[in-house]
Amino acid sequence: MEGDQKVELSEALALGPGWRHACHALLYAPDPRKLFGRIPMRFAVLMQMRFDGRLGFPGGFVDAQDSCLEDGLNRELREELGDAMSAFRVERSDYRSSHIAARPRVVAHFYAKRLTLEQLQAVEARAPQAKDHGLEVLGLVRVPLYILRDGGGGLPAFLENSFIGAAREQLLEALRDLELLDPGTIAKLKIPDSK
Ligand code: APR
Ligand code: MG
Repeated sequence: MEGDQKVELSEALALGPGWRHACHALLYAPDPRKLFGRIPMRFAVLMQMRFDGRLGFPGGFVDAQDSCLEDGLNRELREELGDAMSAFRVERSDYRSSHIAARPRVVAHFYAKRLTLEQLQAVEARAPQAKDHGLEVLGLVRVPLYILRDGGGGLPAFLENSFIGAAREQLLEALRDLELLDPGTIAKLKIPDSK
């Protein structure tokens, strides 16, 4: 979806009936472990391989029967990630940004929720039993938050994948604003400051 543009939530909600709304969520949890015994993992951050071969966040279209954006989001999260999602709810307070794409007319709302590592591991463990597993969702992945000594391995290589819609920008903004990366990694990636 080229040409995605950021809009305020109030502007997005005022768009006419010709627009479809979608909601997606980044789930993350602190992870104290070290790769190879020396590289801090920092956080477990979840993304998914989608049916179209692109990386994105779990979530999807809000339907007419959903009473609000977050009801639609939590319904989609249960369909895509399974019953471990019933242990918590992604709320309006977890909202981060909205992007619009003109063709088709979709406005995508983005949320990020911090879990305990046990909650996140339960999501990963139960996801293969979810309704959409093997259909719309081909698998969950964790995002590497470090840069290896070769300078390209880790997050830089991960970012060279193909991403749906605004997912790459949503990921980088969340990693920066939620302080999920160390300052050295932010500087090396040249992520622009928040507005
Ligand atoms: N940023 C911006 N837009 C996104 C993002 C993102 N991170 N992720 C997905 N989109 C767009 C998709 O391109 C799609 O237009 O949001 C819309 C809905 O998101 P999906 O998660 O793909 O939708 P979902 O309801 O889970 O299921 C896919 O789409 O084409 C239909 O029939 C198909 O039922 C299927 C559905
Ligand atoms: Mg989806």
